[in-house]
Amino acid sequence: MKTFASIVLLGLLMLEIVLAAPTKNEEKARKLKQIQLLPNDFLEEHGYVNQDPRNFFEYEDGLIIDEPLIESGSPTPPRSSQLVTYDSDYEEEEFVPHEPLDPGAPSVPGLLGPESKEGLPTCLLCTCLSGSVYCDDTDIKNIPALPKDTTHFYGRFNKLTNIKKGDFSGLNHLKRIDVTGNRISSIDEDALRQLPELVDLMVASNELVQLPELPKTMVSIDASYNKLNSSGIKNEAFKDMNNLEYLYLAGNSLNYVPLPLPESLRSINLQNNNVQQINDDTFCNSKDIHYVRKALELIRLDGNPINLSKTPSAYICLPHVPYGNY
Ligand SMILES: *[C@@H]1O[C@H](CO)[C@@H](O)[C@H](O)[C@H]1NC(C)=O
Ligand SMILES: *[C@@H]1O[C@H](CO)[C@@H](O)[C@H](O)[C@H]1NC(C)=O
Repeated sequence: MKTFASIVLLGLLMLEIVLAAPTKNEEKARKLKQIQLLPNDFLEEHGYVNQDPRNFFEYEDGLIIDEPLIESGSPTPPRSSQLVTYDSDYEEEEFVPHEPLDPGAPSVPGLLGPESKEGLPTCLLCTCLSGSVYCDDTDIKNIPALPKDTTHFYGRFNKLTNIKKGDFSGLNHLKRIDVTGNRISSIDEDALRQLPELVDLMVASNELVQLPELPKTMVSIDASYNKLNSSGIKNEAFKDMNNLEYLYLAGNSLNYVPLPLPESLRSINLQNNNVQQINDDTFCNSKDIHYVRKALELIRLDGNPINLSKTPSAYICLPHVPYGNY
């Protein structure tokens, strides 16, 4: 009896492997390709390098949607990683509802979420899980209409081209927006500044020429690998962000360090820009030799046309000298 049961189980298992293998492998190959298209520096900075990048989008009996491999130097403190599991026969085609939705039926708020522009309820198109909406790699071209209680929105590796004023309006609990790896060239000036709880904005690997106004609540901003030059960042853009800890602006065309930097800042990444000059007041305070900027642990200025030996007194208040050419 036991043997029989084992054989049946084994049979089922093999059937599942046979049925599932091609699509999963194709999926994996596609994701891997997308990741490999990202700049090396970006991969390194976000911890993709020390780990096999395939782990990022691992599909085993489901989709691992990470908090992307958080390590030191990553923009957010570690949170428990989230594992979202789809049914093993899950395939993208199956987003289409099996039965036509009855247009006359009362909508069930909070179950499948509002209707997206793609014509499906957002939580069918994406995965909604206790406040988080995961729309990674769903080919979306627009931000879908999000449930009012959304706290985290993930729309990585899609075809988004802009963020409009209404896209996140009224989402008073939204803490994190991650739209890494799209083709976003503009964000409406009003699109984000009124979000009262926004702390993390991840817009790396896009085509932004201008950073929009952001709320003072920001803790972490990642706009690396965009097309920002110094006129794309407003004067004193970060001055009043008293909680800002991580500012990632690598791989842009910035001519100078955006000032003033808030006291709370722990890491500023400006590698691979066009910074040519810093002075004694960029990080320190030339009028107060006792001033110590103890929070600022990491400054990256490597890959800029600047010789840091020329300004030795620009680092006296810092716990570590910047990375760069000396
Ligand atoms: C900055 O970028 C904008 C948009 O790409 C461009 O129009 C402008 O000429 C650039 N400014 C400088 C100083 O390079
Ligand atoms: C930077 O400047 C210092 C002193 O002026 C010089 O000795 C050094 O060779 C320069 N380093 C580079 C990488 O150009």
